Amino acid sequence: MNNTFEQLSTNEVAQLQKNFLDWYFMHARNLPWRENRDPYRIWISEIMLQQTRVDTVIDYFHRFMQTFPTIKDLANADDEKLLKVWEGLGYYSRARNLKVAANQIMDEYDGKFPQTPTEISKLKGIGPYTTGAISSIAFHLPEPAIDGNVMRVVSRLFLIKEDIAKASSRKVFDQAVRKIIPERYPGEFNQAFMDLGSSICTPTSPKCTECPLSSFCLSKQEGLQEQFPVKSKKAKPKDQYFVAFALENTKDAYLLEKRAAGRLLKDMLHFPIVEIAQEEYKNLLKNFSEEPFDFKQPFVQPTLFDEDTLVAEHQTSFELLPRSQTIQTLFSKSELPFNQAKILWNPAHLGEITHIFTHLKWHILLFEGKLMETTANDDFYTMQQMKELPLPKMQHKLLNKMYKLKKDF
Ligand code: ADE
Repeated sequence: MNNTFEQLSTNEVAQLQKNFLDWYFMHARNLPWRENRDPYRIWISEIMLQQTRVDTVIDYFHRFMQTFPTIKDLANADDEKLLKVWEGLGYYSRARNLKVAANQIMDEYDGKFPQTPTEISKLKGIGPYTTGAISSIAFHLPEPAIDGNVMRVVSRLFLIKEDIAKASSRKVFDQAVRKIIPERYPGEFNQAFMDLGSSICTPTSPKCTECPLSSFCLSKQEGLQEQFPVKSKKAKPKDQYFVAFALENTKDAYLLEKRAAGRLLKDMLHFPIVEIAQEEYKNLLKNFSEEPFDFKQPFVQPTLFDEDTLVAEHQTSFELLPRSQTIQTLFSKSELPFNQAKILWNPAHLGEITHIFTHLKWHILLFEGKLMETTANDDFYTMQQMKELPLPKMQHKLLNKMYKLKKDF
């Protein structure tokens, strides 16, 4: 393949580098992880920035550094505390991988961050982009750090037609950046791409008149800026349907379950959920949409009654008992303890939420119920305890649904 960047002369490369670095030193954003070249800070910031906007990351970064100021602190981190500082950033495996990698650094490198791309790339959770970013920013090595921003800028600059949605395209972008990255200031050069991509070479309506690279930009010369990068459409996220259960015990605490390893939201606590078919979900949504039933009213301390009285109470209090049975049947699929227990289900749902993971869209319909038996169980948490716990975003959305409906919370 005849790549346009291969034809750049040494002088042209030098001029491009000068234009770009001059621009960066004038316009670089003032960001907390740019205050020094500590590889630990750069590593944490780059992991946070992978799926999250700069504006959002800033506060998380400060909090993380206050909580875990050194690699050793991170290696010894309490898991719950670690997830709590990460709460809201999503993709929690990133936080868990950070701790694993911090332990690798403690064990294999005596606590000192490794300094070569090969060693850095062996740390848990660190791929080619992060390896390049840390190597160039912290250790001044001329290594590319190819992310979406860089691919956009570089594809426009050199009219690179490779589909940036394909992993195999990375190679040509790597070659292009290797051709132009300077020996001096490679970290600044890579960060110049990041800043240019976010402020000037934006996905739509790039501000080419302000661009320090415009005299080199082949797509600008041909008026094709908006045709680049070439990106095939991502498959639509696959829809999955769930019911969730806010099950309260007699002590105002709610049952939370932990997802098994190897699944989304691994180890995170949330209301129990059960996956159901789309059609069943649509039917539930339609048939259970009446006003929430005020079930504070019929709830009677079960210890005061024998079982028969309780059942009678249960039946007279709930006109819509068949509905409650439907919910109970769904709940029994959760394989949790209590699925045989006596539960007073609110025969109206509390509403639905949706949550998108990279390639999945979860639709979750929320039901609530009250456990009619006193149980000793560690898996129940009061609202106050939930505030202290790291909870995934999807659980916060479910809690918000409850708060909205229940004035007395
Ligand atoms: N996005 C990813 N890494 C970044 C960095 N170091 N500065 C600004 N934006 C970024």
